[in-house]
Amino acid sequence: MKLLLLGSGGREHALAWKIAQSPKIEKLYIAPGNAGTSEVGENVAIKADDFAAIKEFVVKNDINMVVVGLEDPLVKGIYDYFKNDEALKNVPVIGPSKAGAVLEGSKEFAKGFMQRHHIPTAGYKSITAANLEEGLAFLETLEAPYVLKADGLCAGKGVLILPTLEEAKKELKEMLSGMFGDASATVVIEEFLSGIECSVFVLTDGKNYKILPEAKDYKRIGEGDKGLTGGMGSISPVPFADKEWMQKVEDRIIRPTVEGLAAEGIEYKGFIFFGLINVKGEPMVIEYNVRMGDPETESVMLRIKSDLVELFEGVAAGNLNEKTLEIDPRSAVCVMLVSGGYPEHYDKGFAINGLDAVEDSIVFHAGTALKDGKVVTSGGRVIAVSSYGADKSEALARSFANAKKIDFEKKYFRSDIGFDL
Ligand code: AMP
Ligand code: GLY
Repeated sequence: MKLLLLGSGGREHALAWKIAQSPKIEKLYIAPGNAGTSEVGENVAIKADDFAAIKEFVVKNDINMVVVGLEDPLVKGIYDYFKNDEALKNVPVIGPSKAGAVLEGSKEFAKGFMQRHHIPTAGYKSITAANLEEGLAFLETLEAPYVLKADGLCAGKGVLILPTLEEAKKELKEMLSGMFGDASATVVIEEFLSGIECSVFVLTDGKNYKILPEAKDYKRIGEGDKGLTGGMGSISPVPFADKEWMQKVEDRIIRPTVEGLAAEGIEYKGFIFFGLINVKGEPMVIEYNVRMGDPETESVMLRIKSDLVELFEGVAAGNLNEKTLEIDPRSAVCVMLVSGGYPEHYDKGFAINGLDAVEDSIVFHAGTALKDGKVVTSGGRVIAVSSYGADKSEALARSFANAKKIDFEKKYFRSDIGFDL
């Protein structure tokens, strides 16, 4: 089979690494990819949301399947674009329809969906300029801290957590008057939930689903989970996500979500990412995403023993229930090496040295490029150092040892990944 994977981050390198191991793969292309994906497939210089260019490439190269790594093309409707095109309609797209991608594309829709299907989540109110007064009154009924979410996609920046009522009221007004452009024309105000987060992933054909290994990601740039969101590492499995907890997740969240999508007539053949929080032993949904997590994928892919492409075939054919998903019992972790200054201002183009010295870890590239045959930094998140271990400590020791060997100017990583588990 000839498969085209869309995206260019560490998540896509990890997906490409796993896909390339399938004996079913005759040729793997990644658009646009990065320096790392070119080691396991062939990069194609096409933007992941340039549908016309993707079509031309798919037709010309007899591509048999398209896997979408990132949310943007999904929210823009790539699934429907293929389905409604004479030349593309027989090429399955792994990813939800445009209507399904709204689970991530609109926080207001996601909250309404959860309410309709009795899926546990924080109480909320959806506010626009027209009912601002209602929003201000709702804030007064809540306790600090206050959670404000831009309804639309804002590249991971649309959530504000504010310590005082005054700030919450002020920021609500600013969001509604265009802080995030159209994305914050509607703002979801939510009750604050306190607990540890866990990312749960499923692959679904719209009816059947397989639960992939769960992971915990370390979002914040600073040690002790301080500072801005960066995406600094991940760990799988998550100790508190034991059998009993995962059963609650399946019964109260996963099954009602998959059944709810089907009941609402929403086509969904792809990954669902449940951003959960453990509130006193009870799982609640913080958010949905319609793709895998980054940097969770850089741990999760290590733990999938089965042929991922065969699972994708089950998704496309609607017989995922006939496929097996075998999970590696070992721990897997990822430690992200980032550019100094990220997620704010940082420089690019620095040579990356020491990649050849890595032992006992798998290196996934995130923001890298090839310049005159040399691997250089080309983004904020640069390299994910992923490792297996009998437990998380062993896996982390391997990733940290290799994180020190890889070198580029202003390299930074968190050395406390897993500190809270
Ligand atoms: P960000 O990482 O800046 O995109 O913010 C998203 C994060 O905000 C989530 O991962 C949670 O840590 C936090 N968050 C979102 N909604 C809530 C909520 N209702 N209660 C507590 N924390 C929340
Ligand atoms: N790791 C969080 C995300 O991918 O959105």
